[in-house]
Amino acid sequence: MAMWKDIVFGRPDGIRQSTYRSVTGKKAAKAAAVSKPEPVYESAEQALNLGIEAPKDVTPPSGFEVVLHKDALESGKVIEVIIAGNAIALARTDEGYFALDNRCPRTACALGEGSLEGNKLTCPTHGWVFDVSDGSCEISPKDTVPTYPVQVVGDGVCVKI
Ligand code: FES
Repeated sequence: MAMWKDIVFGRPDGIRQSTYRSVTGKKAAKAAAVSKPEPVYESAEQALNLGIEAPKDVTPPSGFEVVLHKDALESGKVIEVIIAGNAIALARTDEGYFALDNRCPRTACALGEGSLEGNKLTCPTHGWVFDVSDGSCEISPKDTVPTYPVQVVGDGVCVKI
């Protein structure tokens, strides 16, 4: 079991854990940035859900990076990924994949730890709700979260930041 965790999350003293801590500011991460630009898993449930590696045979469009296998995330789930050192919330809905800044504008909590219902992503801390398709916030319309283009190419989910 420990070996499986090391493969998915990285060793506690390894570079993935170190990168994850430096990007997110979290002291003890359950998850880590896999060698870039692979995903960061926030829980064992997400890791199990994402047990498929990002494909290595996909050539992303110019400016995009392959971050995930297209079948790795179920609809209705959101995760954090690190892309070029930036924490991004990657959500999958019935409409497809959406990428937005991981930082909630209210107090910078991780939107990738929130809950997703349709295109509505609820921040885990105070419950602000964001539309993952455009980053708009129902509760505070002036606090839109930046979004990023996503394209699925072959088996790869590609994000441009
Ligand atoms: S930090 Fe997101 S709603 Fe409070």
